[in-house]
Amino acid sequence: KGAFTIAIDGPAAAGKGTISRAVAAHFGAAHLDTGLLYRAVGAKVLLGMTPEAAARALVPGDLDAPDLRSPEVAQSASRVAVIPDVRAALREFQHEFARRDGGAVLDGRDIGTVICPDADAKLFVTASAEVRAQRRFAELRDSGVETSFEQVLADVKDRDARDMQRAEAPLKPASDAVVIDTSEMSIDEAVAAAIAAVEAAR
Ligand code: C5P
Repeated sequence: KGAFTIAIDGPAAAGKGTISRAVAAHFGAAHLDTGLLYRAVGAKVLLGMTPEAAARALVPGDLDAPDLRSPEVAQSASRVAVIPDVRAALREFQHEFARRDGGAVLDGRDIGTVICPDADAKLFVTASAEVRAQRRFAELRDSGVETSFEQVLADVKDRDARDMQRAEAPLKPASDAVVIDTSEMSIDEAVAAAIAAVEAAR
């Protein structure tokens, strides 16, 4: 089989990033973290641009900006992500990426439902809000960010609610997605489960 597309969706800090990188490496496919597109727009909005102008002006180099991982940028990203014109401006870049030779793994919130409804394999990676907040808190602490578990949990729940309740492309599993709950899994177990699900689907 030729080029194939793998869609990996799920809420914040469920392990999508780690799993997507490992799945892409396993299958020799390219990987796009689509959250970075929304984060790059969110970062420009924090600097004073309008969301629509920031989305239209986005260039691939913007995805390498150093501050895209901060909690402020994450919240700004989820606020711009409710705007239909912003989502539309980012669509073509994602479609082009998905079509590339050699296969592509895209991770995000609406890949299996909206961006790549015909993906060869769809995964929905999730975990309890407490487990996700604990993981994100540890990550932030290790990278020197001063925050508390309660603050991170509140941020995660806030972003989940906004992502699930928006009218356009809300976060939800595609009807044909394989759901992987990583709450009680190690990273190795979650990666193995994801690779097995993709093998079974393609
Ligand atoms: O995955 P990440 O936490 O980097 O995403 C940041 C925000 O971007 C999410 O909270 C969500 O609002 C938005 N997003 C989206 N659709 C995607 C990827 C991310 O709406 N495909």
